[in-house]
Amino acid sequence: MRRLRMAMVGGGPGSFIGPVHRIAAELDREIELVAGAFSSDAPRSAEAGRAYRIEPERAYPTLGAMLEAETQRPDGIDFVSIVTPNYNHLASARAVLAAGIPVLTDKPMTATWAEARELAALVEASGLPFGVTHTYAGYPLVREARARVAAGGLGTIRKVVVEYPQGWLAGEAAGKQAEWRVDPARCGEGGCIGDIGVHAFQLAEFITGLKVTRLLADLAAVVPGRALDDDCSVLLRFANGARGVLLASQIEVGELNSLRIRVYGDRAGLIWRQEDPNILFLNRIDGTSEVIRAGTGLLGADAAARTRTPGGHPEGYLEAFANIYRDFAAVLRGEQAPLLPGIEAGLRGMAFISTAVTASSENMGWVSLNA
Ligand SMILES: NC(=O)c1ccc[n+]([C@@H]2O[C@H](COP(=O)([O-])OP(=O)(O)OC[C@H]3O[C@@H](n4cnc5c(N)ncnc54)[C@H](O)[C@@H]3O)[C@@H](O)[C@H]2O)c1
Repeated sequence: MRRLRMAMVGGGPGSFIGPVHRIAAELDREIELVAGAFSSDAPRSAEAGRAYRIEPERAYPTLGAMLEAETQRPDGIDFVSIVTPNYNHLASARAVLAAGIPVLTDKPMTATWAEARELAALVEASGLPFGVTHTYAGYPLVREARARVAAGGLGTIRKVVVEYPQGWLAGEAAGKQAEWRVDPARCGEGGCIGDIGVHAFQLAEFITGLKVTRLLADLAAVVPGRALDDDCSVLLRFANGARGVLLASQIEVGELNSLRIRVYGDRAGLIWRQEDPNILFLNRIDGTSEVIRAGTGLLGADAAARTRTPGGHPEGYLEAFANIYRDFAAVLRGEQAPLLPGIEAGLRGMAFISTAVTASSENMGWVSLNA
């Protein structure tokens, strides 16, 4: 019953998602951050180690040094979370898996589709637990939406509309988070499509339980001089013939993190918004509507098990992230967590990014999505 020992690669001073991972991992006291190679700059890694209150000798100058030392310790790390910019995900995962240690990586899983296939082969060969932090799959009401669709509550799915508008890259890309996201060498094949489009894609497949088989993509670099897309419009076709629309943008001025999904079957439709995540709307063809609120007795078993506070005590991003960690911890303890996004979700996300980028740049019209 001891706490699982976590290390991070990335998450140094001033970084965005590393501290979120630390909070999420530790929320349920199942996991404790004990080590890290938090920055490619050794003094900054040490500085981060102090801020995270870990033992000074366990804030390492490099991932290699960390793996060498931790694999010798009787109380060595149980897994590594990769929270570096995209270009580093494969290299870090390769080294960690080679040391026989499980990996939880942030999205997009790698920088390119070719890297994704290499990583999938490494994960399979290692036989080690592997997960991808597709945060939105952790929200209780996203789990509820998925369960309602799976139980046939919407009937046959006919239309999916998923929108992810942000506005923070509408002007000059200044600052730590922005700079690498507009640089193909550090961000990878996709810009906005890989940064947030992939979340929208994963959410659509996760809630509907349907695979996207074809797409038509129109990706643009709207801000002059930008090498990667910052505005994406994609039409989707699902395996059952359902049609979909995926919009992702980082130039929609005034938008913060306004992810929203609507799923329509022949009997009902549902609506969920990330900025108001504790409400799920279900509207039926007979005109009746259900407002499903988090923390109430209306939730199914899976969503209820991932809710920590009673109705009216709002949970959000950090708790959703913690649910991904809860699932990953279960896998590490040898339990089942079938909804944890794993290598298949990572591969599909990377195939989506790569296919959309190529199809758009070469004006290919409708293309198959194979992963
Ligand atoms: N799941 C989500 O909701 C979500 C949200 C934001 C970001 N992300 C993903 O998280 C990753 C990091 O994004 P961010 O916004 O936190 O970036 P960031 O620029 O804020 O932080 C990146 C950190 O990695 C460190 N780093 C870079 N190269 C390194 C190396 N070789 N070794 C050790 N540390 C290194 C940097 O010093 C920095 O501390 C990206 O892949 C991004 O797509 C996911």
